[in-house]
Amino acid sequence: MAVPYHRTTITRRQTLRLAAAGALGSVLPTRIAFGQTAKVRIGILLPYSGTYARLGNAITNAMELKFAELGGKLGGRDIELIKVDSEAAPPKATELTTKLINQEKVDILVGPVHSGVAMAMAKIAREEGTLTIVPNAGADQITGPLCAPNLFRTSFTNWQPGHPMGKVLLDEGKKNVVTCFWNYGAGQQSAEGFKDGFVPHGGTIVKEIGVPFPQVEFQAALTEIAALKPDAVYTFFAGGGAVKFVKDWHAAGLSGIELVGAGFLTEGVTEAQGEAAEGLRTTLHYADALDNPANLKFREAYLAKFGKEADVYAVQGYDAAELIHVGLEAVQGDTSAKADIIKAMEGAEFDSPRGPFKLSKAHNPVQNIYLRRVEKGVNTVIATAYEGLSDPAKGCKLL
Ligand code: BEZ
Repeated sequence: MAVPYHRTTITRRQTLRLAAAGALGSVLPTRIAFGQTAKVRIGILLPYSGTYARLGNAITNAMELKFAELGGKLGGRDIELIKVDSEAAPPKATELTTKLINQEKVDILVGPVHSGVAMAMAKIAREEGTLTIVPNAGADQITGPLCAPNLFRTSFTNWQPGHPMGKVLLDEGKKNVVTCFWNYGAGQQSAEGFKDGFVPHGGTIVKEIGVPFPQVEFQAALTEIAALKPDAVYTFFAGGGAVKFVKDWHAAGLSGIELVGAGFLTEGVTEAQGEAAEGLRTTLHYADALDNPANLKFREAYLAKFGKEADVYAVQGYDAAELIHVGLEAVQGDTSAKADIIKAMEGAEFDSPRGPFKLSKAHNPVQNIYLRRVEKGVNTVIATAYEGLSDPAKGCKLL
């Protein structure tokens, strides 16, 4: 265990308050004095069990890869990761987040995957002022009405990935679409994002079908879709649920109806989906086959270290670790210098495996959304469906 900061002459919480009030200089001679030998404690709240377990593992793996590439140090200090299984269960999120902040006394929080968990986590992180990086959960609110100086995201808003799919379908004359999604925040907002780019330009949503999360009984939905005969079905499913949905869709043999979706449908799961995934088109801020030096290097290193292919979740974890690196490098590891860390992170620009990485004023990535197609188990790039897409961040007071 790292030496807790509160064993020094003043508590860590007092230190942060004093730092915020600008009074630190009169108490401590330098920013390094109280923390140089302690490890940077990073609390990680991610799913390591259940339908999103592979997402949590990919994010964690890639963070560990990045930290190893940085020589195991952040701003000159060793790193300690405190990992907690969120189980992708919103009712457990408040207790687990509180434990990480108050008992484990983490310097930085990273998580979660599930939008419902994110809502609870963000509420506490805002109250406590804990520096927090969301490496997946897309809840629009986090970088919308709940945005805050200490909340950052390296993934997407739920609105972002599906938004450009509307134009893709309309350009091909596909005007009647059913949306089918896990019926919680992420699925609902993903379907809304799609709708936003589809309905105002002449598309019609024939029916919205919500399936309770994390249920994987899709037969009733597929029967309804077969009867409705839309041109296409826009979906939001991920992890284990995406494997099952794509296999069930394939088995149903719904000819003449195209299955599309936010790219989570085929992220990290094409091997498990096998033949059923071939040819599926989705939109996302990443694709396996992106041909840029950062992606090639990342994928090679990830495969070598973990013996499996990287995916979008891994990219988001890798970039979360890089963002922390940028922040702590700017203050030589002094985690109490929060305003300076935030400033450095806000200005971070680097070559991510997804392409150029930078943040909006709301602290959400401004990023390309790619139209992809699965070919021989690989998410290939057909085109850039939207270059530099920024979430509208409605209600964010940082704008
Ligand atoms: C979410 O709950 O925000 C989410 C989960 C899995 C993939 C994408 C988004």
